[in-house]
Amino acid sequence: MDRSERLARLVACGGLGEAEVAELLDPNPLPFKAAEHMIENAIGVVGLPLGVGLNFLINGRDYLIPMAVEEPSIIAAASHAARLIRESGGFVAEADPPVMIGQIQLVKVPDIDLAVRRIETATPQLLAAADAVHPNMTKRGGGARAIKVRSLPVTACGPMLVVHLLVEVGDAMGANAINSIVEALAPCIEEITGGQARLRILSNLADERLARATTRIDFKLLDSGSLPGREVAERMVEASAFAAADPYRAATHNKGIMNGVDAVAIATGNDWRGIEAGAHAYAARNGHYGPLSEWRIEPQQLVGTIELPLAVGTVGGNLECNPRIRFSLRMLGVSSARELAAIMAAVGLGQNFAAMRALVTDGIQRGHMALHARGLAVAAGAPEGLVDQVIQELLASGEIKLSKAREIVQSVQLDG
Ligand code: MEV
Repeated sequence: MDRSERLARLVACGGLGEAEVAELLDPNPLPFKAAEHMIENAIGVVGLPLGVGLNFLINGRDYLIPMAVEEPSIIAAASHAARLIRESGGFVAEADPPVMIGQIQLVKVPDIDLAVRRIETATPQLLAAADAVHPNMTKRGGGARAIKVRSLPVTACGPMLVVHLLVEVGDAMGANAINSIVEALAPCIEEITGGQARLRILSNLADERLARATTRIDFKLLDSGSLPGREVAERMVEASAFAAADPYRAATHNKGIMNGVDAVAIATGNDWRGIEAGAHAYAARNGHYGPLSEWRIEPQQLVGTIELPLAVGTVGGNLECNPRIRFSLRMLGVSSARELAAIMAAVGLGQNFAAMRALVTDGIQRGHMALHARGLAVAAGAPEGLVDQVIQELLASGEIKLSKAREIVQSVQLDG
């Protein structure tokens, strides 16, 4: 399909309204005025393709997944995986309530045990003081939930006490809310403990805010042509075991997951650096860096599960002032940050499935190179009507390089 056919199809299936399509066709994705309000020293706007991940059936509902990403094969792979997975019932996904952790670092605490006891006793007052910082958040059903005290008896600068404030932040990512709460509470905590507060900041290891997804795929859907489905499933379990045993592989395994997670994060205006930091810290939570997903066999089915922290929001200043992000959220049709987190977990698992299935069968390069060739043909200046011919010749040459693409573009133009 070309772009207008794709958009017409999305309108026809109810995923987009005419007004949204008109907004998307605006050639200026982010007005400079908005960009200037978002960062300092703004001089322009960088473009990134926005595509749609198709076929995602999650908790019995169809979703059109907005994905912003530059790597050619990601959206195709996710959509292909989701099509196969939907035939086995799709994904089941869920996320914890959106509870963020804020940290207060305390040094020079005279008596750590006494300080811990005092904070425990003062917890109701501290939670009330935290709620008073953001009364609107409390009115919307959020608010401070708990205080946890962690002692770090040995650091390079002596013992430290860390106070964790757990706050349910609603549909925002919650960074501003939690940071202002820990800053407001620090003096009070200093007084209670007799220590000195230093850092007061959220933790990106948002492990009170985990998202999970599962999928169960019938063996018969995994037949690859050359390999029966059971064999493909067994090889995927071996690949999963490889990632669990080897951090070198786990990093690449998780990168494949984050291909999908980040693409949705960027399309929906979320802080992908925070998500990345949280995901990798969570992957190393047992003192050994491991995979965020796992694949196992249950009779006649390949079962995949994923769990990772996802501190994401569906409301907030940055999201609202960027028209494309508003568009992506509307196309996705989520009603809460929690739902968005669950969907992102499912997309990550689907993306992981696509990569693993390719790796245990044909390898990744065949499909990848076909898509890469398209980008090279365009970069080499192939005119609109000749792009497909250049791609074919490039693939046939076996040299998928920009220099070769340029050579082919010249020769097809001469022939023309
Ligand atoms: C490439 O962007 C991602 C993969 O390397 C992931 C993986 O190896 O699982 C294909």
